[in-house]
Amino acid sequence: MQLLEDRIQREGTVKTADVLKVDAFLNHQCDVALFDAMGEAWAEHFAGKRIDKILTIEASGIGIACCAARHFGNVPVVFAKKAQSINLDGDQYSTTVYSFTKQREFPVIVSKKYLNAGEHVLLIDDFLANGKALHGLIDLCEAAGAVIEGIGIAVEKGFQKGGDELRAEGYDVDSLAIVESMDPQTGRIEFRH
Ligand code: G4P
Ligand code: NA
Ligand code: NA
Repeated sequence: MQLLEDRIQREGTVKTADVLKVDAFLNHQCDVALFDAMGEAWAEHFAGKRIDKILTIEASGIGIACCAARHFGNVPVVFAKKAQSINLDGDQYSTTVYSFTKQREFPVIVSKKYLNAGEHVLLIDDFLANGKALHGLIDLCEAAGAVIEGIGIAVEKGFQKGGDELRAEGYDVDSLAIVESMDPQTGRIEFRH
């Protein structure tokens, strides 16, 4: 998506060899006109698929998922919560996600009320790196018996393995910008096309 790539080129900063900062429009300040255009692009890509619900993970996924839902007939958006501990009272599906940046595992939960067997779900997230967060969302859908129709990602780092692994597993992954390489010394960012 040219609009997103241009924005990353103008306002993104390469913090380290594998961390791209996009706080100006995605992870801190939110550009809702851009989010709306992203939603439109996913709607075009996933046109013809039955989407009953969008599932994302807090926090940065929520804004983009809500803007996207406007382009999918205002389907509900559910966000998985990052919990402090797993509560075993049975009213929620839970899994654990290993965070590379935080170097620890944390529980991720969704209420059984909001994810149901037979629902057709689109997964949305802001970043795709190693795919740990996405695999957590996939686990939750499998536990619920929900059907995953596709995965919409804003920024995929193509040099990390998450996206290619998910595609190899058969998922329809639509990443609006795929960073093929980036250099913290020069600030240069190149995209996959
Ligand atoms: P993974 O899920 O793909 O394996 O990635 P990882 O554990 O490394 O990511 C941890 C967090 O960092 C996630 O957000 C993810 O979206 C984000 N992230 C990963 N790589 C980048 C990057 O290059 N730039 C930016 N800005 N974020 C990245 P989170 O901790 O769940 O936080 P939130 O922002 O959604 O609240
Ligand atoms: Na995220
Ligand atoms: Na994030």
